Amino acid sequence: MDETIALYALAAGVLAGTLPRLRRRLQLSRAKHPSLTGHSRMAKRVASLLPGYSYDAQRFFEADGAPAEVADRRRDGFGRLSEALRARSPATLALTRSAREGLSDLQFTGAYRVPFQFSAHVREHLPVGGFLQASSGVEVTDLDGNRYLDLTGSYGVNVFGYDFYKACIEEGAARVRALGPVLGAYHPCVADNVERLRRISGLPEVSFHMSGTEAVMQAVRLARYHTRRSHLVRFAGAYHGWWEDVQPGPGNPLPPRETYTLRDMDPRALAVLRTRRDIACVLVNPLQALHPNRPAPGDSTLVDGSRIAGTDRAAYAAWLRDLRQVCTERGIVLILDEIFVGFRLAPGGAQAYFGVQADMVTYGKTLGGGLPVGVVCGRADLMRRWRDDRPADICFARGTFNSHPYVMGAMAAFLDRLATPAVQAVYEGLDARWDGRAERMNRALDEAGVPVRVAHLSSIWTVGYTRPGRYHWMLQYYLREAGLALSWVGTGRLVFSLDYSDAQFEEVVRRFVGAAVAMQRDGWWWHDEATTHRSIRRGILGEMARRWLSERLPLAARRWFALAPAAHGADRVSPADGPQAPNR
Ligand SMILES: Cc1ncc(COP(=O)(O)O)c(C=O)c1O
Repeated sequence: MDETIALYALAAGVLAGTLPRLRRRLQLSRAKHPSLTGHSRMAKRVASLLPGYSYDAQRFFEADGAPAEVADRRRDGFGRLSEALRARSPATLALTRSAREGLSDLQFTGAYRVPFQFSAHVREHLPVGGFLQASSGVEVTDLDGNRYLDLTGSYGVNVFGYDFYKACIEEGAARVRALGPVLGAYHPCVADNVERLRRISGLPEVSFHMSGTEAVMQAVRLARYHTRRSHLVRFAGAYHGWWEDVQPGPGNPLPPRETYTLRDMDPRALAVLRTRRDIACVLVNPLQALHPNRPAPGDSTLVDGSRIAGTDRAAYAAWLRDLRQVCTERGIVLILDEIFVGFRLAPGGAQAYFGVQADMVTYGKTLGGGLPVGVVCGRADLMRRWRDDRPADICFARGTFNSHPYVMGAMAAFLDRLATPAVQAVYEGLDARWDGRAERMNRALDEAGVPVRVAHLSSIWTVGYTRPGRYHWMLQYYLREAGLALSWVGTGRLVFSLDYSDAQFEEVVRRFVGAAVAMQRDGWWWHDEATTHRSIRRGILGEMARRWLSERLPLAARRWFALAPAAHGADRVSPADGPQAPNR
């Protein structure tokens, strides 16, 4: 009897100990976005299973089951486009071809411009130059003298126009020339930069780093040091650089460890923050306001043509306020990663734009005045790298080139200019201007009868498609032909500099709509009413399953199951073809 009671007591004790843990685990699961983007570990596993294959020259044009007449039109259009792109930039393409072999980055970006099944054929026939010789105003010029209206924004660095940054670099270099590349001791302009950044960020301490990735790494490290907790929270889809812990899932060879990836703009994420005791910090990239819970929209992920985006500024501001409150209650460090959006939305950055005060803010990109930089601004208690009572327990952070005089000089020139009435005036009515421009573009696209629309967060735009399709990514090549420069993520991210005049913007609209009309004429948006995003995805999954099985089953079994890959037109596999990588 005593033994039975003891056993019951033990069971009750074990249950009492495990139930709260189970509840927390369940809560965590519910706070993950249901997509693969919300499940880093599973996404990594799936990515490692996806087989690489390419469509042959026939399947390439009829992957959506288009009739022969449409496939022929596409083939003709593709051939014409191929010739036009080659004829226009022979020197640029020759150098790109020869440099490619030794330039890993060029190989990587070249391989991931379009969904991987189409990649090999596109790379062979629609070459994209990787070199430019000049920039001026809102234009860039390739090695053959062709000028393009720039929609790359240089990954977001170019907020005020290339000439602005050329001037910052020159002026900055002149300012620090006497000191030159001396490191360790600071040029006096560093002190000015610190003062200005304190005012802009509303935070009393500043540290300088060499890239945005490094700044984020340092902010997270400090949060862990001071809270003595292990985990960081990021939101599904948000990019924070390519350092280990902030980039769990595909793209990172190691499995996620001390990172929770939670649903953005969702109370279930707040519930996790309220209950777990191991969370050191929450990282927020305000660019996600444009597409919460979705990764940066590159064209290589336009597999079924779906791309959902649209900003609700008030809702995102309310979400940040809720987040702020929970972080304060729980002693969690709120880090606003403004590396992309800082100084683009408002002079006071995303903090001012969305009305939130973070514990730490990271800046980079444009703040370097055109030179590479990463900056952390933070509360004094969080920025401290040692403990008086434990002098050996430090939070180490250095970096040979931190506060490099030339970078600091260009930053000083940037901050000087930022404070001028002329630059402050650029921000007046900024949102209304870009809302109006996005509306203008959408009206023109609508009137032209093409299935394309844009969504935006101020001057950061993304292109969406109003119906399912397998070839939306082709638009990037028509846009390039029309003289618009895009980054390697294609139509996923158009970044305007704020010096675009109305006339220059009107020219973008003209070229953009013209390119879309040409693409429509060439048949790429042929549409079968029965096609849905789901049916496309299902078809591709079937294709992959057949390929996956065909790699594993012996030949006799493959024949029996009729799985021979040639039957599906997906018969050329090269080592360069692979599943999609995450991108910005
Ligand atoms: C929000 C955000 N954080 C961090 C980074 C990383 O910055 P960097 O490329 O300078 O390392 C980026 C780069 O795109 C970014 O957009």
